[in-house]
Amino acid sequence: MDPNAANDDFYEQIKPRLHRRIGREVRLAHRILDLGCGSCDLVRYLAASYGQEVTGVDISDGSFPSRRHTADGSHYHCLKRDAAHLTFAKDGSADAIVSMWAMHEMAKPEAILREAHRILRPGGEIFIIDFPRDSLAQQLWNEDYYRPGEIEALLRNAGFEQVQGRVIEQEQVMWVRGYRPRSRTGES
Ligand SMILES: C[S@@+](CC[C@H](N)C(=O)[O-])C[C@H]1O[C@@H](n2cnc3c(N)ncnc32)[C@H](O)[C@@H]1O
Repeated sequence: MDPNAANDDFYEQIKPRLHRRIGREVRLAHRILDLGCGSCDLVRYLAASYGQEVTGVDISDGSFPSRRHTADGSHYHCLKRDAAHLTFAKDGSADAIVSMWAMHEMAKPEAILREAHRILRPGGEIFIIDFPRDSLAQQLWNEDYYRPGEIEALLRNAGFEQVQGRVIEQEQVMWVRGYRPRSRTGES
């Protein structure tokens, strides 16, 4: 696959591999939240593969599937919500939070990551996967993309620790992770 060929098939083709990679990372988490879930493909994949309790939120429900069950009957949730205001989610109610190809579209990233920090349990992990600036995505869609260091700074400012960003998939995808710290009293 040649990422230099300005062809959006590149991203469609790597999508299943990214889902598997995310799945391996969050396989031990029971409650997962996907921010900017779009058509809920990742939500469905995680619910089907690991039987987790997975909820996707998106500011638009235009791409939501009408059926919210995997082939084996596991239910998953897709909710129309702004990720900056997730009042339905209690403090510490997610074991992992993921967001794929969505952060660059989100108008209030600081507010969204503060909300993610509130909802993630202490010790839980967040994964932000997006197109990096100057990637093939920029040639294809010319949106305003972040550099990994910018997402790292946003995560640290929101209170996450052990933040690490890298570029993968022939440098066409940015992968940034961080943890919500455990409290000093050892709360987990
Ligand atoms: C490029 S799509 C990616 C969808 C999906 N995550 C995927 O991997 O295909 C970005 C999504 O972010 C959603 N979005 C943008 N701002 C949002 C916000 N404030 N809260 C929730 N979703 C938002 C858009 O509606 C859109 O569905």
